[in-house]
Amino acid sequence: MGYSTQREIGIVNRDMKKIAPSMIRKVMESLSEMKNPANFSIGAPCHNPSELFKVGLINAINDGKAGYTPSIGIKDLREEIVKYFAKRNIITDSDHTVVTGGTTQLINSLLYCIGSSGDDVGIIRPSFVIYPEQTKIHKKNPIYIDFDKNTLLPDIEDLRKKSKEHNLKSIVFSSPGNPTGVVYPKETLELIAEIANDRNSDGTKTWIIFDQIYDEFLYGDALNNYTRMAQIYKRTMSVGGPAKSLAIPGYRLACGAIPNDEIMEAMETHLLYHHVNAPTHNQLAFLYALQNGAMDTLQGMRNMYGKRRDIAYKELTKIFGNFGPKPEGAFYIFVPIPEQFSSDEFMKLAKKEEIVVVPGKAFGADRYFRLSYSVKSIDSIREGIQRFSRFVK
Ligand SMILES: Cc1ncc(COP(=O)(O)O)c(C=O)c1O
Repeated sequence: MGYSTQREIGIVNRDMKKIAPSMIRKVMESLSEMKNPANFSIGAPCHNPSELFKVGLINAINDGKAGYTPSIGIKDLREEIVKYFAKRNIITDSDHTVVTGGTTQLINSLLYCIGSSGDDVGIIRPSFVIYPEQTKIHKKNPIYIDFDKNTLLPDIEDLRKKSKEHNLKSIVFSSPGNPTGVVYPKETLELIAEIANDRNSDGTKTWIIFDQIYDEFLYGDALNNYTRMAQIYKRTMSVGGPAKSLAIPGYRLACGAIPNDEIMEAMETHLLYHHVNAPTHNQLAFLYALQNGAMDTLQGMRNMYGKRRDIAYKELTKIFGNFGPKPEGAFYIFVPIPEQFSSDEFMKLAKKEEIVVVPGKAFGADRYFRLSYSVKSIDSIREGIQRFSRFVK
């Protein structure tokens, strides 16, 4: 019996029509047509998976640890995460800490649990691709906050205006940012906090979902100056985890600090029906990695990415001039498309040279592209960026 290729009315939830498929996946598919791609589209780390995590994983398997866990994660693991968070200025306890099968799932659950369908969610542009689509999946309205073209930081006046016009139940953003690599300075976070703290016209206050998945990827002064939203604003959900830093994104694991009983209870129930629990062996592997100091030995990794950032930024500057701020974190550079090209034209020319970058459109900023320097070989960073000079004069 063959598969049905016929489209029928009313099979698929009509709301799915409003959800955009991932543009990043599409870009990655184009790789299969290329002979010698300069692949700068990778949103995953290029260093090797943590040895300690691997040992923890093997132990968990050999010990036959294959049962269910609480929906918010194994208590011992949450206690270790509390210590890890404390070292990083996030003060929480194990009853307000959650473990999920990835940051995507954690943010999804938060976006569902905070506010009700029909409510407004502030999304600071350029934004990671999942925030608007997850918001729409929960029948909430994404309200886009513009950004300052010189700094790639949020346009605070636009945020002020939008938060007057809408009852924003939450605001979501990442710092260090995907796609910009930009780290929000303390002053910017303080301004966001001041706006969020103003009561909405329906009497509610605004929660912040602070995505810090790249918080171990900070270079130069940013490592010492990094400020977390939770240090400034008490209604902050801090989310992140080991996916990028321990180079295990495919294992699906994340953690967050949820400083509110009601939201925590809602999350516990939502996660139970949503994923039951994050995979048990992954949780145990993370527990082992934390207990054995995996997060205290990341400086070598930081140096490796920092060096790639310096080289990629310098090479880009040779071609695009002084195009924007040098990113201080993550492994992305967000580059404006030169005026002489339309965005589509530029992307086509890049594709012709087998340069694979992600169009800014995917992040709500059409006149840019995202270049990821999470690439193993430094020579291939130089060579790949050089290819732009074939059509950017
Ligand atoms: C800013 C940001 N948040 C969340 C995620 C998703 O993380 P996870 O793989 O843990 O779901 C990514 C992945 O690239 C990301 O860049």
